[in-house]
Amino acid sequence: MYLELTNLKKTFGSFTAVANVNLSIDKTEFVSLLGPSGSGKSTLLRLIAGLEQPTEGRIIVDGKDVTRLPPYQRGIAMVFQDFLLFPHMTVRENLAFPLRMLKMPAAEQAERIDWVSRILSLTELQQRYPNQLSGGQQQRVALGRGLVSRPKVLLLDEPLANLDRELRRDMEIEIRRYQIELGIPFIYVTHNQEEALSMSDRIAVVNKGGIEDFADKSTIYSQPKTSFIAQFVGRSNMFAGPVVSIPTGARAIAWQDLLIPLHATGKLADHTIASAYIKIEDTLIERDDGTPAPDKIRGRLRDVIFRGQYAEYLVRMPNGAEIVASGIDSATRVSPGDNVLISWDPQKLDLFPGEVRQ
Ligand SMILES: Nc1ncnc2c1ncn2[C@@H]1O[C@H](COP(=O)(O)OP(=O)(O)O)[C@@H](O)[C@H]1O
Ligand SMILES: [Mg+2]
Repeated sequence: MYLELTNLKKTFGSFTAVANVNLSIDKTEFVSLLGPSGSGKSTLLRLIAGLEQPTEGRIIVDGKDVTRLPPYQRGIAMVFQDFLLFPHMTVRENLAFPLRMLKMPAAEQAERIDWVSRILSLTELQQRYPNQLSGGQQQRVALGRGLVSRPKVLLLDEPLANLDRELRRDMEIEIRRYQIELGIPFIYVTHNQEEALSMSDRIAVVNKGGIEDFADKSTIYSQPKTSFIAQFVGRSNMFAGPVVSIPTGARAIAWQDLLIPLHATGKLADHTIASAYIKIEDTLIERDDGTPAPDKIRGRLRDVIFRGQYAEYLVRMPNGAEIVASGIDSATRVSPGDNVLISWDPQKLDLFPGEVRQ
């Protein structure tokens, strides 16, 4: 593999910020480190960049052990959230800065700047100052400063966090395009699952300094390996409680006085505490016409939230809890106050033993 992290660990005093991380990343991959704030994403990125020394472990880039090398000898560049462009320098001078630090000959510098400007569509903007650029253009210059030294790996730490939503979406597509064009791995840190899902080949979910799972994004999304991932990625309804047998012979989770039918309980014995997750888009709703439906849950529709292509339905369950279902509004034909039935494809329910972890 092109980039190998082996048993990487970082402690600050008695606090473990990064715990035994093992990741192997291919040369053509876009990988996201996705996790909540404080989970250790930036620390992990800073270890790779050489801005922090690991307490334990090794970092190999392109066959070379860079663990003890200073940042500028690693062939790794990093783009930060508050990318600070030098305000008194033009775009061209900003792009030249990392090359000047490397004492690159002027002719080669010019070649590199022209190359990166072409890729990032900055050619027309070279003589402008940062305050004459839009937010997206400034972000492209910051990316250019990372790429101009032709790194072997580009690290990005929440680079879009300060941009508005519209611009962020455009930049997601752009960044992914640059990565494909350059053919080097990008490691992208974010707490925003939409960004991670839209851009990545694979996602490493980070929690409390460790990697919960590292897999292609569709696996992370639709087959969460841990309850943390089920909670953190996508939007789900969650039911937690003891597993019980019900008269039909099947099992259910007793969730606050309501029985949630389980079709596949795996090895979970009765009385085991378990948590089950069903994604909102897999939670189906229909009008309750009173016919018996033992596998469905009865509730009352409280509210419909129109989302354009689909609608979300806020349903009050008999135990007082609320769950969210979704559907195509024109097809569902239910209105607030209606009695409704909630169901899902049992295969889509993710079930985990143990207490709910936050
Ligand atoms: N230099 C440091 N000294 C002490 N604690 C630190 C230091 N850097 C980070 N931490 C702690 O490590 C944890 C992870 O931080 P960080 O990697 O910045 O998380 P993230 O980027 O996922 O939000 C946090 O609890 C943070 O306070
Ligand atoms: Mg961070």
